Amino acid sequence: MSETFDVAVIGAGPGGYVAAIRCAQLGLNTVCIDEWKNPKGKASLGGTCLNVGCIPSKALLESSENYFQIKHKVSVHGIATENVSVDVPVMIVRKDKIVTTFTAGITSLFKKNKVKSIHGRGTLLQREPSANAWQIKVDDNGNTEIIQAKHVIVATGSVPRSLPFTPIDNDLVLDNAGALALTEVPKRLGVIGAGVIGLEMGSVWRRLGAEVTILEAMPGFLMAADEQIAKEAKSIFAKEPGLQINTGINIKSIKVSNSDVVVNYSDSNNQEQVLEVDKLIVAIGRIPNTMGLGVSENGLSLDERGFIVVDQYCRTNLTNVYAVGDVVRGPMLAHKASEEGVVVAEMIAHSEKGQASENEAVDFNTIPWVIYTAPEIAWVGKNEQELRAAGIAYKVGQFPFIANGRARAMGETSGFVKILADEKTDRVLGVHMIGPHVSELISEAVMAMKFSASSQDIACIVHAHPSLSEVFHEAALGVDKRALHI
Ligand code: FAD
Ligand code: NAI
Repeated sequence: MSETFDVAVIGAGPGGYVAAIRCAQLGLNTVCIDEWKNPKGKASLGGTCLNVGCIPSKALLESSENYFQIKHKVSVHGIATENVSVDVPVMIVRKDKIVTTFTAGITSLFKKNKVKSIHGRGTLLQREPSANAWQIKVDDNGNTEIIQAKHVIVATGSVPRSLPFTPIDNDLVLDNAGALALTEVPKRLGVIGAGVIGLEMGSVWRRLGAEVTILEAMPGFLMAADEQIAKEAKSIFAKEPGLQINTGINIKSIKVSNSDVVVNYSDSNNQEQVLEVDKLIVAIGRIPNTMGLGVSENGLSLDERGFIVVDQYCRTNLTNVYAVGDVVRGPMLAHKASEEGVVVAEMIAHSEKGQASENEAVDFNTIPWVIYTAPEIAWVGKNEQELRAAGIAYKVGQFPFIANGRARAMGETSGFVKILADEKTDRVLGVHMIGPHVSELISEAVMAMKFSASSQDIACIVHAHPSLSEVFHEAALGVDKRALHI
């Protein structure tokens, strides 16, 4: 009989690898099973986030923004540039290097923490009611082994949703992996879905010179964001040369030829339209990945959208089986997945010691969202439409980046910070930002909300001058109508 682990983690994305490391730190004998292979056919830990998600997209966003700044923006500083060009293959090699550095980093972290790593697809085998451990079959290209574990953490993530009538070929019709691996700038790029991936990937290739058309089914734009932020973003993006966002559309057909893609759709006025592009990115959301996991064989409960059903502590309906990250309800974000992984690891460690868990469930209300467009968009907590719908009375403090010295010096003056605070208690209920580096600024808002701060508390904190963080401070002062610089 093979060794019995305390914990087997299936999936080594940010949910799974973090859970595995934390389990091992807490003294649990831990194995992590992952099936990801990179384009060279090699095992590559880190899941979607490290291989084809957060990290490579941010690498290309950085490169493309540098190019765009040098080509179009630095002349206002008196810097003359001539013959600025971009070598896309070099940019892609840089991105790939960042990815391999980080994926190899997880291998090192596993070694350091004594997490056993096994490559292959993990399938939960049926368990006798009397058994005291789960058996998991690991299949690596036909080579199989069975491992046993007392506890199982499922962290199998998500995969792109595709249109039923257009398969992804990652040549002309691309998902996120294809969109991150283009080796030349398409002249005409179509994107279906004006969600997070559509906006970020559209930004990368537009900055590099593509004519980008985004087709979005919903009548509105960025429906998950605060309405005012979404409106501001739409008006800023509408002024960007080379970017067209059409909302309220309905895709009728997509024809793929040898060299281009023709999209037939009706627009928001129900008029038939045709879009011809050299490449088409399909970014219409992601679906939970439970393929080959042994769901039906074991009676693992899924909801109507295919997510594994879990309680607030990520416990499934099966004994000692937990699930975290994109494969369960809640935002599909790397930091949410990791936090759930930590909570579950600590809960298992407590239960192994016969102690009750002292951990809180992950609070989705203080999970930050960031969209890495230019300007960036970030938020935490409730937005205005949610507060109105819930009948909660609130106060608003808002401050624009154009009135901030640092933003002026940087030449990045678009956008604002908005703080929503409870009308009676002044407790901060939500913070919404659009502007330069708000991906970093949002952390202060998350901390404030985590510590149940009032807008007064933030107003009392001295912020460095000149810094972008003063915009957050002034927005807090603005809640009580005492902003100083406007
Ligand atoms: P995943 O990262 O999907 O990992 C799951 C792992 O499990 C994979 O390695 C998979 O191969 C493996 N697996 C699946 N089934 C099995 C099985 N049966 N046996 C063995 N292994 C299995 N989030 C952010 O917070 N910030 C961002 O900036 C951001 N940018 C993104 C950009 C893009 C283009 C995309 C696509 C996503 C982005 N995300 C971002 C979302 C983020 O990548 C996911 O929320 C995160 O990766 C989810 O982590 P996870 O561990 O749940 O799953
Ligand atoms: P998304 O849910 O953000 O956006 C999908 C968009 O496609 C929606 O606006 C939807 O209305 C639209 N859509 C759906 N079907 C359509 C159709 N048939 N025709 C036209 N439009 C259609 O999903 P996306 O962009 O694929 O990203 C998936 C997830 O990955 C995100 O929700 C997010 O959780 C995560 N992510 C996070 C990032 C970040 O944190 N910065 C970056 C990228 C992805």
